[in-house]
Amino acid sequence: MWVQVLNDRIDRIRENEKKSHTEIYQKETLYSSNTWLGKTIKTVKELVPYFEDYEIIRALDLGAGVGRNSIFLAEQFRDKDCRIDCVDLLDIAIDKLKQNAAVHSVDNSINGITQSIEDYIIAPDSYDLIMAVSALEHVDSEESFVSKLKEIEEGIRDHGIVCLIINSEINEINIETSQELEPQFEVNISTEKMKNMLSDVFKNWTVIKESVVNQKYEIPRDGITSRLTTNVVTFVAQR
Ligand SMILES: C[S@@+](CC[C@H](N)C(=O)[O-])C[C@H]1O[C@@H](n2cnc3c(N)ncnc32)[C@H](O)[C@@H]1O
Repeated sequence: MWVQVLNDRIDRIRENEKKSHTEIYQKETLYSSNTWLGKTIKTVKELVPYFEDYEIIRALDLGAGVGRNSIFLAEQFRDKDCRIDCVDLLDIAIDKLKQNAAVHSVDNSINGITQSIEDYIIAPDSYDLIMAVSALEHVDSEESFVSKLKEIEEGIRDHGIVCLIINSEINEINIETSQELEPQFEVNISTEKMKNMLSDVFKNWTVIKESVVNQKYEIPRDGITSRLTTNVVTFVAQR
């Protein structure tokens, strides 16, 4: 009974996510959009110097979308033997990712994989960089979240880097009535707990960047406008 209720919740959230992502991926053009697809995030841009001396780079982008971060990195690493495995649940994300990789002439480096983050098994010691930007909070349970963090930790080679940006402590209210709404995120962990999980799993790593930024958005939802507040946790560390 409870399992069914939980599965229904995940299905409902994923259906909504699919709708909103499909709309934006169909409408907007990578790097020339006023939406979040307009530019690569600064934290990812800051990773480039760490790979200056590498000739071969193997990277993984979990919940890669249409390649906002991976295509930028593939362009920066054009003179290296670079492969970035890009995993996303949605066919349309991976189709657009491949088109974008061709447009930016990095199709040799971008490997699109249509799969869920939960199902994509990260082999130990296999990547120099693993990133997940606004993606890990979409795995199907807190247990999956913790086990994926451990897999990421084991999947990164010596001197390799993890770059995670994760929404935490997410709240949503109807702007007109102030009624609380269920945030459309599969996993919603308190900020303190998230920070503790990250420092537990990545203990003994060198932390490069750690921040929490409170953000507020107004978003259309089922005919009303809701206000979403979130603490965005950024965690970049080197093994
Ligand atoms: C907010 S977008 C971010 C995309 C990309 N990381 C970026 O920064 O541009 C989240 C992406 O994660 C994907 N996603 C959501 N849940 C997922 C899951 N469980 N497994 C794989 N991909 C997922 C969505 O399809 C979407 O493309």
